Amino acid sequence: MQDDLNGNMDCICEIVQALISSVLLFQVLVIAHLTAGMANLSRHEKEKYFLTATGETRPFPSLHDPHSRELSVVIPAYNEELRMPVMLDEAMEYLESRQKKNSSFTYEVIVVDDGSKDKTTEVRMIYTKKYSADKVRVLTLVKNRGKGGAVLMGTLSSRGRLILMADADGATKFSDIEKVEAGLKDNMAIACGSRAHLEKDSVAQRSLFRTFLMYGFHFLVWFFCVRGIRDTQCGFKLFTREAALRTFSSLHIERWAFDVELLYIAQCFKIPIAEVAVNWTEIEGSKLVPFWSWLQMGRDLIFIRLRYLTGAWKLQSPQKTD
Ligand SMILES: *[C@@H]1O[C@H](CO)[C@@H](O)[C@H](O)[C@H]1NC(C)=O
Ligand SMILES: *[C@@H]1O[C@H](CO)[C@@H](O)[C@H](O)[C@H]1NC(C)=O
Ligand SMILES: *[C@@H]1O[C@H](CO)[C@@H](O)[C@H](O)[C@H]1NC(C)=O
Repeated sequence: MQDDLNGNMDCICEIVQALISSVLLFQVLVIAHLTAGMANLSRHEKEKYFLTATGETRPFPSLHDPHSRELSVVIPAYNEELRMPVMLDEAMEYLESRQKKNSSFTYEVIVVDDGSKDKTTEVRMIYTKKYSADKVRVLTLVKNRGKGGAVLMGTLSSRGRLILMADADGATKFSDIEKVEAGLKDNMAIACGSRAHLEKDSVAQRSLFRTFLMYGFHFLVWFFCVRGIRDTQCGFKLFTREAALRTFSSLHIERWAFDVELLYIAQCFKIPIAEVAVNWTEIEGSKLVPFWSWLQMGRDLIFIRLRYLTGAWKLQSPQKTD
């Protein structure tokens, strides 16, 4: 009799647990649905133009047009007044010397000032004056969008056959672009710089807590979104123009987790992705991802999968917007 009762209680407990879990899951799905939105592809009137060295305004070209340069380098910058000149000097030196050796290597650098509060845009204009607006353009966003939004807007404005996104802090040696370029052979369409080979060293230097967050993040990425790529977050990624057009046209996330969504979209389209080891220097004053951002990223990762599964987000075919 007592055993029966216990058995019944267990059974009821399981039913209640199952009910609670489904209610929770349902709530998560509803929240995932209600908060689902595309990345904002439209531009503020002021974001449609760049300044030439003499201060005239010119409209940005579109990713939908055929390429007219060999390489575009898109650099998202938020309050990078201080660190960015170091990175830009290194990049320009490399690009200029490569062009001297081979005049058919044409390039442009697009700095996207993501609504900075400091003088990022002014500092960048110095480079436009020094190298011409054909080579260095500044896209100043009216409002801060987040790194993904900045890379997106820069990419939509680029002319390159290949498009590189690179961080403004210069943590990757710029000449490592040759490594990611080599990664595009064999019909690869995206080559991601990777720090996975350095992971062992970095674990030694990090606190236990950050290591735990890092592995947790890797697990969520692997479990929900992207398999087969060990470092999704490295800010050094090279796209063919076509791969950029297809993946960025479907992008929804404008903040930290946008890399993961881009790669998720690429894998849905069966776009081949290479992962290439690059060198990485921990830069003094690098922006550490704050704790709440880790939570936000974790949520975003789960939501990426849920939203595509439930149709709240769909893969888009490239459409021209302005
Ligand atoms: C999209 O961005 C533009 C330019 O910043 C802004 O004017 C517009 O209100 C935004 N739209 C939405 C839906 O947020
Ligand atoms: C010169 O640059 C073009 C465009 O990047 C490339 O196709 C070509 O192979 C390069 N030539 C040499 C000799 O490296
Ligand atoms: C990184 O740089 C060091 C020294 O500059 C070099 O010995 C090493 O081979 C590089 N690693 C990679 C993956 O390029």
